[in-house]
Amino acid sequence: MDSLEQLIDSAKQDFLAAPDAVALENAKAKYLGKTGLITAQMKQLGKMPPEDRRTRGAVINAAKGQIEAALNARRQDIANQKLQEKLNAEAIDVTLPGRGRGKGGIHPVMRTWERIERIFGSIGFDVADGPEIENDWTNFTALNSPENHPARSMQDTFYIDGNDANGKPLLLRTHTSPMQVRYARSHDLPVKVIAPGRTYRVDSDATHSPMFHQVEGLWIDTDISFADLKGVYLNFIQAFFETDNVQIRFRPSYFPFTEPSAEIDIAFGSGPLKGRWLEVSGCGQVHPKVLANMGIDAEKYIGFAFGSGLERLTMLRYGINDLRLFYEGDLRFLKQFN
Ligand code: FA5
Ligand code: MG
Repeated sequence: MDSLEQLIDSAKQDFLAAPDAVALENAKAKYLGKTGLITAQMKQLGKMPPEDRRTRGAVINAAKGQIEAALNARRQDIANQKLQEKLNAEAIDVTLPGRGRGKGGIHPVMRTWERIERIFGSIGFDVADGPEIENDWTNFTALNSPENHPARSMQDTFYIDGNDANGKPLLLRTHTSPMQVRYARSHDLPVKVIAPGRTYRVDSDATHSPMFHQVEGLWIDTDISFADLKGVYLNFIQAFFETDNVQIRFRPSYFPFTEPSAEIDIAFGSGPLKGRWLEVSGCGQVHPKVLANMGIDAEKYIGFAFGSGLERLTMLRYGINDLRLFYEGDLRFLKQFN
């Protein structure tokens, strides 16, 4: 029978020789398992006289403790080794050049928005922002479109659940013109402001989107005329298109909130629609009833306003023939603007 010393030595050697956790657990069974060598020593105890049993038992237990310690040490070594191998396999070579990263870009309509703010800012216009959920009064009635007025149907509307303080249904604003009223009622005169933002209508074709962007312009002072509106707008268009060579026309039109009114068309200078006119804006002299709703004396003050479509201006700037392209999220299209 092996001496305990020999058993301990050979266990240590077997454990060290075990290359992995499975081999180690097999080696453990050889000594500490049910039929293991240490276990066999324990079983011998039963045949000994009681006085020897106690001392021998203590010696065997000490040997067992040493073998267990060697086993645990080797277990830890194997685990460490495995971890190290894994770390080595996953090592990142920080000296390798990067793969590069896709660059995002600003949406062409947002670029137009920013350009408009910059151009009007440079000639002293304030920039205002207003709610996209409007009430009936500000979107229509204050703008001289009373209930049941046929002009309301020009802007077939998205109503939403919920009423305003007057019990009238709330709606997604159909134009930025409500901002004329909101701004003029809360600011001192004279007023020079633009209000860009999202607007909504039941529209959808190559030049109409259900969600689109407008920029409202409002100028109220004592001594201005339609010529000033026209001059400011022409300057804006030439700065926006970065050329004096823009074909533009003011065409008499109708809006309930301006009198006289006009629509502004610009001809495509490039793209498949080159030479074709596209309406970009409504404009006019603010109606005296609207000035009254702003709390302004129409005998003393005169106002001019315009409301232009940002998608349409962007179409003209880049020669794009279908506005729906802006909202399809196709990178092949969007990438061209960055
Ligand atoms: C208006 O919305 C008036 N509030 C404009 C105005 C303001 C007139 C101030 C007078 C004084 P209109 O419905 O024509 O007008 O729309 C103005 C511009 O918004 C159009 O010329 C067009 O450029 C753009 N637009 C209108 N509907 C859509 C749409 N569904 N999709 C994209 N652009 C649109
Ligand atoms: Mg129009």
